[in-house]
Amino acid sequence: MACQLLLSRMPASVAESKIQPETEPIMNKTATTAHPILPLLAERWSPRAFTAAKIDATALGSLFEAVRWAPSASNLQPWGFVHAAHGSAGFAAIVGSLAAGNVTWAQHAPLLVVGVAELTKADGSPNLYGRYDLGQSVAHLSIQAAALGLHLHQMAGFDSAKLREAVSLPLSHEPVVVIAIGALGEASQLPAPLDERERAPRSRKPLDSFVFTDTWPAGRP
Ligand SMILES: Cc1cc2nc3c(=O)[nH]c(=O)nc-3n(C[C@H](O)[C@H](O)[C@H](O)COP(=O)(O)O)c2cc1C
Repeated sequence: MACQLLLSRMPASVAESKIQPETEPIMNKTATTAHPILPLLAERWSPRAFTAAKIDATALGSLFEAVRWAPSASNLQPWGFVHAAHGSAGFAAIVGSLAAGNVTWAQHAPLLVVGVAELTKADGSPNLYGRYDLGQSVAHLSIQAAALGLHLHQMAGFDSAKLREAVSLPLSHEPVVVIAIGALGEASQLPAPLDERERAPRSRKPLDSFVFTDTWPAGRP
């Protein structure tokens, strides 16, 4: 099936799944790592500028198949997703639930995905790992997206009640995240100051601030 990702750096089809872009990315924000990690992990980052190229059914299938094979507590798979393509009524409804700062750029993404967690087990007890498992499934999705030459940007900045209404979500499920997905666009298409933020270097805490041997350091919060 022909892929609708029209960037010249993309392979002709994600169905052929490629898995590496053929030319250099528009903007390289690859992590400077203290130790070697998988290239896809280092290259993944969260842009706000996407091209208008649509995500076709083949790519969508791969993204959610990657989710499907994520591990989860007791294999409950307590995740759910609603996706809406740019231009659809569903897309507009999701945008309407986003915080203003996210609307600015997310309204131009080719695809928005709502990630939901089922927080109650079949026996009525709480599933304390529902959000954890959803997050891990989105990590799968993000790496599959990177392998397809796509980027995603997760958002917690939304009005939960509006989002629930926008996607007709039952009370048994909680909207946890909205994810913009697309091919990387140009920072220059963003309004200031987002264009500068798009170009800013990525930063992380050092390993020794969160990885400890044997015991948690005394007195450390
Ligand atoms: C659960 C979650 C919620 C986030 N919410 C927002 C958001 O509402 N708006 C936004 O611009 N970025 C949001 N982000 C993106 C983070 O700011 C971003 O992942 C972080 O700064 C690290 O940047 P990187 O993904 O490019 O490495 C969110 C990320 C996650 C995982």
